[in-house]
Amino acid sequence: MINFPLRLVELQEVDSTNSYAKELIKKGEIFEGTLITARRQTFGRGRLSRTWHSKEGESLTMSVVLETPPLPAVTLLCGIAVNRALSHFTESNCFSLKWPNDVLSENKKVAGILVERYLDFTIIGIGVNVNNRVFPEEIENKATSLRLIFGKDFDTRQLSVLIGKSLEQVFTEYNYSFCEKAKRDYTALCINSGKEVRFGEDFEKAGIVTGISEDGSLIVRSEKEEHLISTGEVFISGIY
Ligand code: BTN
Repeated sequence: MINFPLRLVELQEVDSTNSYAKELIKKGEIFEGTLITARRQTFGRGRLSRTWHSKEGESLTMSVVLETPPLPAVTLLCGIAVNRALSHFTESNCFSLKWPNDVLSENKKVAGILVERYLDFTIIGIGVNVNNRVFPEEIENKATSLRLIFGKDFDTRQLSVLIGKSLEQVFTEYNYSFCEKAKRDYTALCINSGKEVRFGEDFEKAGIVTGISEDGSLIVRSEKEEHLISTGEVFISGIY
């Protein structure tokens, strides 16, 4: 196991810590175990080509670079790791996961994870709403922060290192695979389990979540058939 992080790159401002990590990889200036953080991220990227909102001095925006084998379920393992780090950091077990890896508390999103492959590297980009007091109107109903949940401020630098260590521990514990134990642990945290979800391009299909497959897809049973959802978004009634 590596002693995480091997290198800490703390930036004042960057477009996206994930894009910055890619640049370093391209130039051969990076190695496994590098943790990049930015106080201000001007073009944060989310899953499904969305933008990611963050606020200078309040949000944590970070990327971890690991040299892992390509693994379809890697994003789910990252979800377990961030969930664990937040639980440990806040000494609370109020966190859950919404498939594939949104970290929620009281059905609102606290953290998002964008995993990208580049050459032999896996870039794990993580955004955590730490000391945010308010959110833009378009996300205020579905976002929350540690500040809003616990009523106090937290140290973002300390949290970034803890998340890095947690990622390393989770990958080592599950031996870089979505093994039976990983699947069990993920399912226990996942709020989709057993719930009715809507999915498809316009969320026109519906079914009950019956499990998670080997590759991390959501298994959904509808009236007529079983669906394997490997990408995109699913909607849980009353949540998002
Ligand atoms: C999501 O839930 O859509 C994923 C959000 C990931 C945001 C983080 S912030 C740090 C890193 N750099 C980025 O541009 N995105 C990720």
